Amino acid sequence: MFISFEGTEGVGKTTLIRRIHDYFTAQGQSVVLTREPGGTSMAEQIRALLLAVNHEEKMCSDTELLLMYAARAQHLDQVILPALAAGKTVLCDRFSDASFAYQCAGRGLSESKLQTLNNNFVTRMPDLTFWLDAPIELGMTRARARGELDRFEQEKATFFEKVRGGYQTLWERHPERVKRLDATQNPDQVFAQAMDYL
Ligand code: TMP
Repeated sequence: MFISFEGTEGVGKTTLIRRIHDYFTAQGQSVVLTREPGGTSMAEQIRALLLAVNHEEKMCSDTELLLMYAARAQHLDQVILPALAAGKTVLCDRFSDASFAYQCAGRGLSESKLQTLNNNFVTRMPDLTFWLDAPIELGMTRARARGELDRFEQEKATFFEKVRGGYQTLWERHPERVKRLDATQNPDQVFAQAMDYL
């Protein structure tokens, strides 16, 4: 199975993924835990470029989108597809739904741009996607507590409201794949919600 985890900043994706990873591993399953943008050394270099705060040059939204997909192509080819072919379970912290939520809903890029990229470069979609949903302020408080904010985390609340709206749209469009979890609950409860679906 290929499972992705989505949501705005600070909603507890990492905690949930670790718990699901530990659960599957304890059952003797072979699990690959990975993330986007990133997951390979080259894709992690692209991630660094994407998250870096650059006061001299603003990254335009098209560049942001294309870099996300360059990292994704590398990640699919090197990690996700080989792991699935080997019968492993892949747990991925964000995938192409994040591009819809952040680059289309958040930045305002057209869906047709995204569709072109998805149609040509995303040969495998997740079987199941958990959308951890919580009010923006709650997540931002957690993200701020982690320390220095990256280029995305420095965005205003209005941007994240749009991103959250993007996830809501995906949840409504793909109810069979995208499952909403109430991320205002504590980690045990969020894990229990996810286990119900699993
Ligand atoms: P994170 O994985 O630590 O949350 O950081 C990745 C950031 O990149 C996060 O703010 C969301 C953003 N992102 C996009 O804008 N589009 C994408 O397609 C992906 C995978 C992530």
